[in-house]
Amino acid sequence: MAHDHVEPPRSLRGLVFAATVIVAVLAVLAAGALITATNLLQRTAKRSAASVESVRFFEEAEIHLLLLARTDDPVVKRNLEGDLITSLEAAGVHVTSAAEARALRDAHASLEKYRAVTSDPATSHAAVEQAESRAFAALDALVDINVEQTRRDNASAAVLTNVANVVGVGIAIAIIGLATFLLLWSRHHLLRPLFALADTMRRFAGGDRGVRALDHGPLELREMSSRFNAMAESIATQREAQSAFLGGIAHDLRTPLSALRTAVDVLEMDEHPPRSRQVLGVLTRQIERLERMTGDFLDISKIEAGKLELHLAPHDLRAIGRGVVELFAGERRRVELDVPGEPVRVVCDDVRINQVLTNLVSNALKFSPPTEAVRIAIRAREGGAVVEVADRGTGIAREDLDRIFEPFRRTAATHGVPGTGLGLVNVKRLVEAHGGRIEIDSAPARGSVFRVILPA
Ligand SMILES: Nc1ncnc2c1ncn2[C@@H]1O[C@H](COP(=O)(O)OP(=O)(O)O)[C@@H](O)[C@H]1O
Ligand SMILES: [Mg+2]
Repeated sequence: MAHDHVEPPRSLRGLVFAATVIVAVLAVLAAGALITATNLLQRTAKRSAASVESVRFFEEAEIHLLLLARTDDPVVKRNLEGDLITSLEAAGVHVTSAAEARALRDAHASLEKYRAVTSDPATSHAAVEQAESRAFAALDALVDINVEQTRRDNASAAVLTNVANVVGVGIAIAIIGLATFLLLWSRHHLLRPLFALADTMRRFAGGDRGVRALDHGPLELREMSSRFNAMAESIATQREAQSAFLGGIAHDLRTPLSALRTAVDVLEMDEHPPRSRQVLGVLTRQIERLERMTGDFLDISKIEAGKLELHLAPHDLRAIGRGVVELFAGERRRVELDVPGEPVRVVCDDVRINQVLTNLVSNALKFSPPTEAVRIAIRAREGGAVVEVADRGTGIAREDLDRIFEPFRRTAATHGVPGTGLGLVNVKRLVEAHGGRIEIDSAPARGSVFRVILPA
């Protein structure tokens, strides 16, 4: 059986901390390596310079020795001996190793010997020559030692440079690797879950109350997701309670309302003086308004509870449009209907689509001046139909366009006009239940066009 490998959640704080520590350690390593390399190189360079200097002095001493052997003038001889000693002493300052110190002592001794030999007139010529060549050999040995030292220093400088290069490149690769890892990690494990959470929030705000955030990404993000889910859950519960409450009220209001309606209908059958007729007209209109409002309440609670049933059948939208216009025939204002010559057929619940259009037309009338007509235009289009309800009224500001579909949301421009703020919620839910959508073109003070797009 295959086991799913579930990665344990990592905390963002821990990761940032680890990355910071690694970068700091790498930086300290780089700095340490750099300081060590510079110091070692400096020391090597110093020693190498000393050796070069020593070579110069010993070669000088050799020349003095050669000149000393080829002169008989006692004054010149004394001067040359003085120079020879000065050169050796000057070179003595730059001694860098025990071997060199030993060789220097040898050179002193053999020169001492040479001086003793030459100052004794009884010495044979051969003995003088032997002492001279010994002294010369001692100086040569010193030159060799220093040349060898310089060569070794050069070699170790080259090794040091190589080591510094390798360490530098290694640290650079480690830092680039770490940066790449962090980049890739954050894309997969941080940005993607973050965008997913943002998307969930956007969908929730857009009315999709069922979406919940996924439990992935670093610990901090999971924490945010679970807080969001808890909040979404509580909002959903609140909404359910609210709509159930509204539904209850609407249900209870229906009985007295229908009693009122029957009473007014009965009264209207008799003859009445004009004043009473007028009062009866007011009563009828207000009862109709109350019925519409309770209808909205009931629909909302049904839709929210998922109990909305659509009775789908093929209908000609033109007929539904005509029914809506008839409904508003009592109004003093004109509702114009613009339909094509041939039927515009869609499969829909005609009562519900009638309700959608009635809501839109009643809004259009409510929110536009009494002198302006409202226009319904019905058109067939590829794969469905479009119904437009247009007015020349107050219009809707851009920032309100999304919000007016939320329950109880009414714009500042329309305060003072009676209403519940539930009509458009129903309109949107009903249109979406038909698989359609709704669009708005609106500009403040110029009017609005509500466009309902229905699939065939
Ligand atoms: N045709 C329109 N012109 C201007 N504003 C509108 C129009 N239709 C809707 N609105 C705005 O949207 C809000 C919500 O509409 P609705 O849900 O039908 O509630 P109600 O009609 O009860 O106010 C209205 O209060 C109004 O501010
Ligand atoms: Mg309305």
